[in-house]
Amino acid sequence: MSATVITNIATLVTNDPSLRDPDPLGLVRDAAVVIEGDRVVWTGAASKAPATDNRVDAGGRAVLPGFVDSHSHLVFAGDRTEEFNARMSGRPYSAGGIRTTVAATRAASEAELEATLTRHLAEALRQGTTTFETKSGYGLTVEDEERALRLAARHTDEVTYLGAHVVAPEYADDPAGYVDLVTGAMLDACAPHARWIDVFCEKGAFDGDQARAILTAGRAKGLHPRIHANQLSYGPGVRLAVELDAASADHCTHLTDADVDALANSATVATLLPGAEFSTRAAWPDARRLLDAGVTVALSTDCNPGSSYTSSVPFCVALAVRDMGMTPDEAVWAATAGGAAALRRTDVGRLVPGAYADLVLLDAPSHVHLAYRPGVPLVTGVWRRGVREV
Ligand code: NIG
Ligand code: FE
Repeated sequence: MSATVITNIATLVTNDPSLRDPDPLGLVRDAAVVIEGDRVVWTGAASKAPATDNRVDAGGRAVLPGFVDSHSHLVFAGDRTEEFNARMSGRPYSAGGIRTTVAATRAASEAELEATLTRHLAEALRQGTTTFETKSGYGLTVEDEERALRLAARHTDEVTYLGAHVVAPEYADDPAGYVDLVTGAMLDACAPHARWIDVFCEKGAFDGDQARAILTAGRAKGLHPRIHANQLSYGPGVRLAVELDAASADHCTHLTDADVDALANSATVATLLPGAEFSTRAAWPDARRLLDAGVTVALSTDCNPGSSYTSSVPFCVALAVRDMGMTPDEAVWAATAGGAAALRRTDVGRLVPGAYADLVLLDAPSHVHLAYRPGVPLVTGVWRRGVREV
């Protein structure tokens, strides 16, 4: 198998845990990376790189691990421009808007859903995303949820069953009946296509007891929990995530001290989704408070047509640095190694021998420019599984 060296890298972000102290990003200056097949086989000083058949000159720019977007909702149809317009004129965000997308998604053909999914994935890849999770949740019938997960599984291993996004309109007067469906026939149909199970634990969606019942039923079918928690209000979601050893509690916008303590003493990652606060004009999650308490933080897009219609991890990095108290180093770690931790993966989100060769080349000398130059398309090269795609 022929090897390729990417050399003349001014700043290489490795996220190598063995270099973590004192530098969490494991930065190497004047660096090179060697890839063979779909894996990284060597990283270090360019002057010490082994001889290879192929050579790529990074031109004194920065290379970092491909972004790991551990939270998105990409199987949907239609858009919600009118709802966004109304919000920007002062109307608050409500979970009720989800039903607009449910109606459009049910009415769409499989080919239409696949085309929309593929378009958004290409958009994300151009912006450096090489691993992504995505969810169902806009079908809310057995057939429509199963269809969404089957489509998603063609594109990623990180597929999440979110039948418990909101109560389906047909069950408006019988939420307990809907929970029975989500934990019964719908779970049976969906579990074979998914790795994860998620619940929107929020007023107007599912309460703590319903969420516990749903996640426990999913676990019995081999799915691992993650939770939409504490997005719009204080509530039981974060503590439930910790109780069930969920891989991630997502949003974490409204947290008590007890919530922060629980996260800090757990293996549950707090995944922050600043695209949602941007697009709903809500208060930002307090990343600084979480980091200072010792919580592992991930940053992801939450890409969906309602609360956060962005596929751009660099945009989320810039928001997190500007408005959530993160340093550029912390935000870049959260968008790469943090996302990997939220998916309980160590083979992505870091550039170390043995990891997947998922790399981003920036048209900038360092990763800090992702926050320093917001809105600028700095991603100029993307390798996924060792293949250059951008
Ligand atoms: O993560 N919070 C619940 N679900 C999505 C929003 C979905 C929508 O508004 O369509 C979220 O923000
Ligand atoms: Fe979400």
